[in-house]
Amino acid sequence: MTATRIQSEALRSRIMTADQAAALIPNHATIGMSGFTGAGYPKLVPAALARRIEALHAQGEDFKVSVWTGASTAPELDGALAKVDGIEMRLPYQSDPVCRERINAGRMEYIDIHLSHVAQYVWFGFLGKLNVAVVEVAAIKADGSLVASSSVGNNKTWLDQADMVILEVNSAFDLRLEGMHDVYYGTHLPPHRLPIPLITVSDRIGETTLRCDPRKIVAIIETNQPDRNIHFAPPDEVSQAIAGHIIEFLEHEIAKGRMPEPLLPFQSGVGNVANAVMAGLQKGRFEGLTAFTEVLQDGMLDLLRTGKMVHASATALSLSKAGQAEFLDNLEYYRSRIVLRPQEISNHPELVRRLGIIAMNGMIEADIYGNVNSTHIAGTSIMNGIGGSGDFARNAFLSFFMTPSVAKGGAISCIVPMVNHVDHTEHDVQVIVTEQGIADLRGLSPKHRARLVIDNCAHPGFRPALHEYYERALRESPGKHTPHLIAEALTFMRGRGIAG
Ligand code: COA
Repeated sequence: MTATRIQSEALRSRIMTADQAAALIPNHATIGMSGFTGAGYPKLVPAALARRIEALHAQGEDFKVSVWTGASTAPELDGALAKVDGIEMRLPYQSDPVCRERINAGRMEYIDIHLSHVAQYVWFGFLGKLNVAVVEVAAIKADGSLVASSSVGNNKTWLDQADMVILEVNSAFDLRLEGMHDVYYGTHLPPHRLPIPLITVSDRIGETTLRCDPRKIVAIIETNQPDRNIHFAPPDEVSQAIAGHIIEFLEHEIAKGRMPEPLLPFQSGVGNVANAVMAGLQKGRFEGLTAFTEVLQDGMLDLLRTGKMVHASATALSLSKAGQAEFLDNLEYYRSRIVLRPQEISNHPELVRRLGIIAMNGMIEADIYGNVNSTHIAGTSIMNGIGGSGDFARNAFLSFFMTPSVAKGGAISCIVPMVNHVDHTEHDVQVIVTEQGIADLRGLSPKHRARLVIDNCAHPGFRPALHEYYERALRESPGKHTPHLIAEALTFMRGRGIAG
């Protein structure tokens, strides 16, 4: 296997164990790791590094690293390093329960930035020096170029910017993945930037492999482990209702002459509701669908399988075990229908705006004026992060934010007077969807939005309290543009006071 996977003979001398590679990483290093939504992350070096850190901490020695990734990874990376308190600072999106606990306990710093910003912030020098890249690949070619695995994420940037590179060559990935990736090297820094020459979602504008200066490669580790097994719940009633509202709304937009057929390309966020919308499209009448998205989940793979979707552009394949098997069994079919790009391209505002994306993202809560909180619980604790939702929502042709109307078994309303943390402002939010219905906020003033959001999206058990709040705010608020009773809004947000 070594000769087919590591075709550069010169580089084979750098094969070593994960523990030996982890020993090369200096204290307080900033490490750029591959990985995007549980796909294409290094499987062995992070765990080896965690073991080393644990041993050093046991001897009373200080050792921590900063970890940059594409997006969320897996327990073998984020979980392992967070568990031993090995992460000094983490960016961008994460969704690991141990990381979340450490961040919220104040034991780990976290910077939550838009996914399209990460690479360019590094090129601009905004985030400081990147010392080490730890990147999973499917193969190293004879000329030293690298075949990416199931995600591209920020790998191009890590390989380019890091002083030293550690590669995990994973033979669990089929070599026929080669050719699915499209790595664009045409980005220049301002003032020399040029338009990105991508006009349709299926355009290929880059190279099929990643470049890497072989002199920087200090270690190569051979692995054979698949990506983490992502589980998608079968769509429940609430998700199906949300999906139904969105599909009906798209029909309405077509009837109004505001949406072409076939539909514009979809961006679909992470999680079960997003997956359910894809399942809803499977049952619907739309054909010739396309996607320009970050993550390709099972629901989208299914649309490609049946031919309802003709092409999908993403940066990661985030599939369940069954989805991975389906993908591998029919790799030749999917290769010509899926392209994986660096996340600075998959999430690029210029492209999202040009292609006219239909964006669909989950949220934690929305307020009656259309501000959206995607990241925080009770205003102070992080859930995951903003991910790519801002890249897409602000620049999309049409943007949906979706959530069940209530959380925690109905105890908490996801429609509130004032969100306790704002990720997407009223200026960026177009359509709010819950299982109760849809609020189309386009062209509405704040006061008109408030009534619509309460009537169409709030759970009936919370509607009277929300109306009562709004009507009183209208009477008593000093400003009548966005009426609020600040202290009461806070009480509502804490889940106390006004009961459902
Ligand atoms: N108040 C308190 N807790 C709430 C809540 C609210 N208003 N809304 C949801 N929650 C809790 C749920 O109870 C659940 O808690 P649990 O894990 O203890 O059961 C948790 O938040 C997740 O909620 P769930 O309904 O399972 O949501 P999800 O899996 O659909 O994810 C987001 C929703 C918002 C967390 C997720 O979409 C996200 O991280 N979005 C931001 C990033 C993004 O949009 N990326 C898209 C580009 S790919």
